[in-house]
Amino acid sequence: MKRNVIVGQSGGPTAAINSSLAGVYRTAKDRNAKKVYGMLHGIQGLLEERYIDLADYITNDLDVELLKRTPAAFLGSCRYKLPEIHENKELYEKIFTILDKLDIEAFVYIGGNDSMDTIKKLSDYAIVTGHTTRFIGCPKTIDNDLALTDHTPGFGSAAKYIGTSVKEIIRDSFCLEYEKGLVTIVEIMGRNAGWLTGAAALAKGEDCPGPDLIYLPEIAFDLDKFSTKIGELLEKKSSVVVAVSEGICLADGKYVCELGESIDFVDAFGHKQLSGTASFLASYVAGEYGCKTRAIELSSLQRAASHCASRVDILEAYQVGGAAVKAADEGDSGKMVIITRFSDDPYQSGTKVKDVHKIANDEKLVPREWVTKCGTNVTSKFLTYVRPLIQGDVSPIMVDGIPRHLFRDL
Ligand code: F6P
Repeated sequence: MKRNVIVGQSGGPTAAINSSLAGVYRTAKDRNAKKVYGMLHGIQGLLEERYIDLADYITNDLDVELLKRTPAAFLGSCRYKLPEIHENKELYEKIFTILDKLDIEAFVYIGGNDSMDTIKKLSDYAIVTGHTTRFIGCPKTIDNDLALTDHTPGFGSAAKYIGTSVKEIIRDSFCLEYEKGLVTIVEIMGRNAGWLTGAAALAKGEDCPGPDLIYLPEIAFDLDKFSTKIGELLEKKSSVVVAVSEGICLADGKYVCELGESIDFVDAFGHKQLSGTASFLASYVAGEYGCKTRAIELSSLQRAASHCASRVDILEAYQVGGAAVKAADEGDSGKMVIITRFSDDPYQSGTKVKDVHKIANDEKLVPREWVTKCGTNVTSKFLTYVRPLIQGDVSPIMVDGIPRHLFRDL
């Protein structure tokens, strides 16, 4: 590389997103980029000329290792939707003036489907205006809903945390005996895709019965059928554990979380904040059966749990970061790095690049045949797909009994 690289992080963070940042930094340096800048809070921060020189923070190999183990977006993130080019040309001119000033050869954006919309628009604008900066997307999202890639970095670690936590919750739920039983509802992120919620099934093994019911957002939720199933289960066992996606909807498309006291917040991409599904269902069950209930929202814990990260995930996240820089250096633009799977066992994967226009704003959902007929669990095919992605551990670097992270003033 002859000039500089700039990298940004966008959308919801993950336990692996900073490993991709480390991969971008290392590969850019190995390819002789003069400087590697980090946008603070993605494209939104860049518009305010907020950026850092990553060399000021990553000074040795230990810093790279710490960065790989640091959850959340080291650079800060944003959910910022660029307008269409014809709607606000001045904004694009401003961005490209800043990129020119920084002498940027490659622009790497680590994000999900909404963030790929940014890569798509910027690369289109560069073509129209004959600009030489190259734009590459680096996949990231715990939701695992990006098209064309086998899976997304961040998903494996979140799935491992969910499988582990649900297993621990099930164990805990059998300790105390309540007269009318206990129903625990665990709410899992993932928006309209059930990949993460399905990962609750990983809890099942010789030493754990697994969750009794799993509800994915791909299947319309029926409150009456749910209630009947809970009643039947309470007849047979003292503790019932249910995993529900934050995004489950009734047949008319209304989110279940909107049936309770929902939050009205909507982001720049028009996504409603989904929260409160477990708490609504727990109150509903308590009302129906008079039993003890517990609502557990895994919330940000599931995407920040770097102490429970998957080794496969952290390694692949690092690789896609490197592959993004390599692609830009070799002349690609308007593309996203994807992961291809060659085999499940032994697990083997590689990277390629694909046209970002085929990825941006799309959502890859769990196929119907990977959900059981009755719609309340996932099949063995789902588990065969997920299991390789949660393998191996990345030991945190512990200081005073607590994991150490790479520090940047927040
Ligand atoms: O997009 C990733 C994600 O973690 C979704 O699963 C979830 O719905 C959303 O982010 C939550 O975002 P926020 O932290 O902005 O509420």
